[in-house]
Amino acid sequence: MTRCAAHAGLLAAVALCAALPVAGIAAPERPDPLTPQVARVLREIKAADTDLLAVSEEDGRLLRLLIASSGAKRALEIGAANGYSAIWIGLGLRETGGRLVAIEYDQGRARQAAENIRRAGLSDIVTVVAGDGFREIPKLDGQFDFVFLDAWKKDYKRFLDLTWPRLVPGGLFLGHNVVNKRSEMPDFLDAITRNPAMLTTIVSPSGEGVSISYKRR
Ligand SMILES: C[S@@+](CC[C@H](N)C(=O)[O-])C[C@H]1O[C@@H](n2cnc3c(N)ncnc32)[C@H](O)[C@@H]1O
Repeated sequence: MTRCAAHAGLLAAVALCAALPVAGIAAPERPDPLTPQVARVLREIKAADTDLLAVSEEDGRLLRLLIASSGAKRALEIGAANGYSAIWIGLGLRETGGRLVAIEYDQGRARQAAENIRRAGLSDIVTVVAGDGFREIPKLDGQFDFVFLDAWKKDYKRFLDLTWPRLVPGGLFLGHNVVNKRSEMPDFLDAITRNPAMLTTIVSPSGEGVSISYKRR
């Protein structure tokens, strides 16, 4: 090989390396579903949330991350209020190709949630069901791989008992406000920390507290 040919080969290799993404830090080619419009809807829900029903932004981000990282596809939310947490869950499901059924007891809030989800461009992923979770869940088909419970706290243990048999092995069951409202749910906390069929941890990104229970295979 002449010096000239060797030089050309080296240049070609350098050009090829420059074109390759750096392993581990390559930017995803998909656009981020958390668009400026979605961020605006989330901010507006928070601004209107005078009853402080919505989860914190940090907890919302956690929901999204857990959905995306676990690959969950069949999600259930009990207690959707105006759709704030449902939007964060929906963003995670946009990455997994999954769907969420979000149940809300209050008819007005359920309507508002559906409207907020529509404005966030997530109506193809999130279905809002207006009604009492105790009546609506038995009407749903199939199993879930992700359950997020954020209804009235005294009902947590009953909702755990209702949904746990329908959570697939390897699925996640999350309860909200398990730190700041723990005194309202002693039976639930006892159940999720003593049951050998689940691995549970409690994290508290914002002080509200989220229990994460993994259904062992
Ligand atoms: C704390 S808020 C939920 C906030 C929502 N997860 C968010 O972050 O945007 C609790 C909601 O649960 C609803 N709720 C309470 N009991 C319920 C039940 N049995 N079935 C369905 N929704 C219920 C209430 O009407 C209320 O809107």
